[in-house]
Amino acid sequence: MISGEKLTKVFKGTIIHSIHIHQVELLQNHYIGVSDSGVILFLSDDDKTVQEHLDSHQFQRSDIVDLGRKFIIPGYIDTHAHAPQYHNAGTGTDLPLLKWLEKYTFPVESKFRDLEFAEHVYSKVVDRMLRNGTTTCCYYATIHLDASKLLADIVSRRGQRGFIGKVCMDRHSPDHYIETTDESISNTKEFIRVILEANNPLVQPIITPRFAPSCTNTLMTALGDLAKQHNKVLIQSHLSENLDEIQWVKSLYPDIPTYTHVYHHFGLLNERTIMAHAIHLSEDELKLLKQTQSSISHCPVSNFTLTSGNMDIRKVIQHDIKLALGTDISGGFSPSILQVMRDSIKCSNSCSFVDSAHKALSYEEAFYLATVGGSKVVNMEHKLGNLLPGKEFDAQIIDPFAPNSPFDVFAGDSLKDIFQKYIFLGDDRNISQLYVKGTKINFN
Ligand code: GUN
Ligand code: FE
Repeated sequence: MISGEKLTKVFKGTIIHSIHIHQVELLQNHYIGVSDSGVILFLSDDDKTVQEHLDSHQFQRSDIVDLGRKFIIPGYIDTHAHAPQYHNAGTGTDLPLLKWLEKYTFPVESKFRDLEFAEHVYSKVVDRMLRNGTTTCCYYATIHLDASKLLADIVSRRGQRGFIGKVCMDRHSPDHYIETTDESISNTKEFIRVILEANNPLVQPIITPRFAPSCTNTLMTALGDLAKQHNKVLIQSHLSENLDEIQWVKSLYPDIPTYTHVYHHFGLLNERTIMAHAIHLSEDELKLLKQTQSSISHCPVSNFTLTSGNMDIRKVIQHDIKLALGTDISGGFSPSILQVMRDSIKCSNSCSFVDSAHKALSYEEAFYLATVGGSKVVNMEHKLGNLLPGKEFDAQIIDPFAPNSPFDVFAGDSLKDIFQKYIFLGDDRNISQLYVKGTKINFN
């Protein structure tokens, strides 16, 4: 028993979660007990053990919630999303990265100086993410301090777990959407101060240089210093997404060996760093990410849509680099991590067309990346990722038999078949309840 915790919820049913990358556990007829502070106190199918827990907390058997044919899985962790770009999700899919940024992305982000507009879009994106089972999200906001604080506030009010980044960009950006170096540094400091002072353990700041081309050396150095000073605050950026972008970085930093080394040069690669995309990396760059314990957020929906390229996921796994999934809204058009899982499999399958030695990603591995992988990338492996005792109850209750379910279950289907059908065909219609740290989320 975890001392001092009061047992407040017990579910009986099927629990499905990952333990290792190759091992999804399907636990039927199990009981899971959750404390008033949202911590999982037990997970067991042993009657005697369960009874002892119930007795020690004077919990009535009649208060156990029987989930029947529904199952509980961990909440999804989206390790890379641009909240303001949700406005554009599903549009502007006709251009590669740099032209896409200029034509669609910077113009919409610049509108977030208007707090009413920001409130409208940010409320929608957070609700949409939650409705898709994303209990933790690493968000880019925009350069605007007030709107970034507003995003943190909305995430907090809705009860989601979030890492919120005020975006930094003081060069190579349009006149209508750029900040001075001083503004970028002082507003980032202020943002971190305000979010930390709000003292909501679910909502944290994240240091966010947009990507190397949009930050001056002075800004990159200051952000590296800030990362050193705040040694628990995460860092996020983009790395090696598009061939023109890589060429551009090479021309900006002819004396630094690679794009990855540019971030390293400014003190921005460490165990708290999340690099989105990282598609076209050399062996040296993969080694540097591993050596610095930095992570990769794999964003295949975006990589397909912006025609950026295919990341060789097996190579990243073989290098033992921390790895998880990201929607990259709106380079990626879908807010659903299920869609990202499917595209991560598709991306890996297509790598195996050209490299017969490439072992394609399985759906079990994709599920691991969306849950346990995500927890490692945000450095919360001890608290999130699966439903083992001691972790916090961030969970989805999935109903494969929901009246409007997008898939059908037949008499001969095993539990594993049903789970696989959910991974490939399921969507928000299958989510019957969502919890973050034991608190039930109300969808708007
Ligand atoms: N690189 C720099 N900014 C962005 C962005 O907003 N989206 C993507 N996908 N890549 C970027
Ligand atoms: Fe991105």
